Amino acid sequence: MKTKLVILGAQWGDEGKGKVVDLLSANFDAVVRYQGGSNAGHTVVVNGEKFILHLLPTGILHPHTIGVVAQGMVVDLELLVEEVQALEDKGLRVWDRFFISDRAHLVMPYHKLLDSLFEKKGKIGTTLRGIGPSYMFKFGRKGIRVCDLENPDNAYRLMKENLEFVKDLCEKVYYQRQDLSLEQMFEKTMENYRKIKERVTDTTKWLLEFKGRVLFEGAQGTMLDIDMGTYPYVTSSNASALGLSNGTGLPPKYFSTAEFWAVSKAYTTRVGEGPFPTELTDGVGEMLRNRGGEYGATTGRPRRCGWLDLVALKHAVRVNGLDGLILTKLDVLDSFEEIKVCVAYERNGKLTQDLPANLELVGGIKPVYKSFSGWLKDTRGAKSISQLPPQAIEYLEFIQEYIGIPIVMLSTGPERDEYFWMVDEKA
Ligand code: GDP
Ligand code: IMO
Ligand code: MG
Repeated sequence: MKTKLVILGAQWGDEGKGKVVDLLSANFDAVVRYQGGSNAGHTVVVNGEKFILHLLPTGILHPHTIGVVAQGMVVDLELLVEEVQALEDKGLRVWDRFFISDRAHLVMPYHKLLDSLFEKKGKIGTTLRGIGPSYMFKFGRKGIRVCDLENPDNAYRLMKENLEFVKDLCEKVYYQRQDLSLEQMFEKTMENYRKIKERVTDTTKWLLEFKGRVLFEGAQGTMLDIDMGTYPYVTSSNASALGLSNGTGLPPKYFSTAEFWAVSKAYTTRVGEGPFPTELTDGVGEMLRNRGGEYGATTGRPRRCGWLDLVALKHAVRVNGLDGLILTKLDVLDSFEEIKVCVAYERNGKLTQDLPANLELVGGIKPVYKSFSGWLKDTRGAKSISQLPPQAIEYLEFIQEYIGIPIVMLSTGPERDEYFWMVDEKA
């Protein structure tokens, strides 16, 4: 039985973390989000009903859990209130079942405005949720934290200073008028704060004292990590395991007894700009998108699709110190006659299995593929390895051998119960 489990994204996000965290949460008492914000879109399908969570930990869908929005997150209070209320309207009790850190930073309307302005020059393809600018303010020591709202005069002063700074930036650098009203912003923020006030706590202290089993739910993915991903085409937080300690305020030692698993699709997708070595811009990529329903859970944008990139996956194994991999969406490959995986990158005639710091190197990077014959059989809803066609087993075995860690679980469809364990030692 695992008392601390970390679930991360192994690729460029949208690996199916929500589905996996949801089903595993049945065995945990608290579920913690600790980085990112409403840029995340974690999908869970229960009896045909779809839930997409952006700020609350996915595990909150189980009525016995406690959800924690830890200090490393940047929180849009308006969206948080909406998300809690939407679940309450569906009959789930949530208001008294989550905590939000007093140290978490806020995403303010001017952060969203700046996000769209920054996108006009040097496009990253962000979710426009104000995430990057909110972290910029945090690290530039201009951020507003949840605890700052306790004193309305102080909150008003901080918002006024920030709005003046943003106004200057918009008008003098971007030649754009900025019409945000300080009074309205202040009133709305304080109104939302009053709704969540009872849930504000020192979540670090709470977690240190908590005796139950805890699941940590990563958002985005290792390749979007600000330090270990495809910089600058990344998100603005440490989406890999590196973000756990600063995101929760828990000492690194706390995680020495945790199990680290990451989620990967049986192929690769990415949303937004940036390098993607195995991207398929032809009919095969189109088929992956259609079969996999690859449209963003947060923005609805079509996801770029390509073959599984084992060089990137091995990078994720190393960076995160992974104990196991959870593979999702194998079923999407069911109708492909040929399936490829990238086993190395070629640059200037040289092969490497290490992810370079800069994937946009002069001369470019070419993926080297190994080809597998497809199984052309339905694997959706399979319940054991013996129900998989031999070609699918060969594919899975090759992946495990290449990355050097076991595939612990296979997800065989979007529904909560469409999965099976590949190992005996479960969560
Ligand atoms: P997350 O951000 O990592 O939580 O992933 P998203 O929710 O953004 O995207 C994953 C999508 O794949 C969602 O629509 C899920 O319902 C779906 N999904 C998850 N696992 C499977 C699976 O094994 N097979 C299929 N066909 N769909 C899956
Ligand atoms: P989940 O948790 C996929 C991508 C954006 C963009 C880059 C920066 O659902 O896996 P940001 O708005 O964070 O400044 O955008 O990161 N991105 C994601 N891609 N899944 C996500 O979250 C993402 N969150 C951000 O598309 O390329
Ligand atoms: Mg997602």
